[in-house]
Amino acid sequence: MLADKHILLIVGGGIAAFKSLDLVRRLREQGARVTPVLTKSGAEFVTPLSLSALAASKVYQDLFSLTDEAEMGHIELSRAADLIVVAPATADLMAKMAGGLANDLATTLLLATDKRVLIAPSMNVRMWNHPATQRNLATLQGDGVLVVGPNEGDMACGEYGPGRMAEVPEIIAAIDAALSDGPLKGRHVLVTSGPTHEPIDPVRYIANRSSGAQGTAIAKALAALGADITFVTGPADVPPPLGVKVVKVQTAAQMLEAVTAAGAADAAIFAAAVADWHVANAGTQKIKKDGSGLPKLEFAENPDILATVSQMKQGRPKLVVGFAAETQDVVAHATAKRLRKGCDWIVANDVSPATGIMGGTENAVTLITDAGPEAWPRMSKDAVATALAARIAKEIA
Ligand code: CTP
Repeated sequence: MLADKHILLIVGGGIAAFKSLDLVRRLREQGARVTPVLTKSGAEFVTPLSLSALAASKVYQDLFSLTDEAEMGHIELSRAADLIVVAPATADLMAKMAGGLANDLATTLLLATDKRVLIAPSMNVRMWNHPATQRNLATLQGDGVLVVGPNEGDMACGEYGPGRMAEVPEIIAAIDAALSDGPLKGRHVLVTSGPTHEPIDPVRYIANRSSGAQGTAIAKALAALGADITFVTGPADVPPPLGVKVVKVQTAAQMLEAVTAAGAADAAIFAAAVADWHVANAGTQKIKKDGSGLPKLEFAENPDILATVSQMKQGRPKLVVGFAAETQDVVAHATAKRLRKGCDWIVANDVSPATGIMGGTENAVTLITDAGPEAWPRMSKDAVATALAARIAKEIA
């Protein structure tokens, strides 16, 4: 896919700049041509020599270099590429891009280009979360700039959180997607995610430990393949992915309503951990300790959203994928669940506390299709999502 593609790579000044060297190598391995542009602060982290050696290209650094202008003007440089990639994209670079500044070669190229731009942000977690950076991000996305990452994790500065630059394979996947329409272009995929909250009274609820991480990662991976996503999410710990249509709900009943309202979909992925029951006699006012004894909660069953959609007589998505969270006999229970609910695939996982999967960053799943169970190795939830999205694309593209 990347053969003969021309990438203009702007390397900003951040500790993640070292990953850009590997990015250049991997891009070239796949047949891409890379022209590096190194910012002044980028040159504090990587040398022009290493970049130029890996790229087998001249490294452009200076806006006012006469030789460069003689060889290739900055307008031409910014337009000769198929895609401009900024990695790492620092908070400063993002701010300059959002503000339309052009006070060095990199920002001038970014302002002068008529090509798509993909940024891989990298910065301290507080800088990333700062309202100014989030505002700039929203502006850039509104301008059509593509974004990969940042990821959550330990950072070079010793803090933990979102801000780590996406890994090289993720950046390459995003470049691939940016340069192609994506196999799922024009496909509508519905994804449910997160827990549901079932009220006991206006201030209390019953919930489960789902963080929404796996559903969010799946929506993100499908969007990267070009799908239009409707993301119906309960109150999750992780923020919804960018670039998808988000519908926030609290209860299972609201989730069913949102799923039904989402319209025809080519595929539906039910990653939400929907509560099985709601409190039938939920208080309309806060239940008080009034001396009349302990409250007696009565439960009623929630609608089974996955089964409802799987068994639709009309307008059933071509592919319906359920999840099975089990704590014992995982494959047997999940296989039975697939038949009982009528979905096409079940992604089964063991959520017993010892696995650390619920609320954690990794997952070990077994994909159950009509061909039987297929155990996948334990990997990050992002990697599970990428692999699942690729399988879904094969099925419905
Ligand atoms: N699901 C759903 N609606 C419900 C319950 C579950 O859509 N009311 C979906 C989940 O999103 C998941 C699948 O059904 O894709 C299986 O969820 P799980 O909690 O593992 O199974 P249950 O159907 O709740 O069965 P059990 O509690 O008996 O394991």
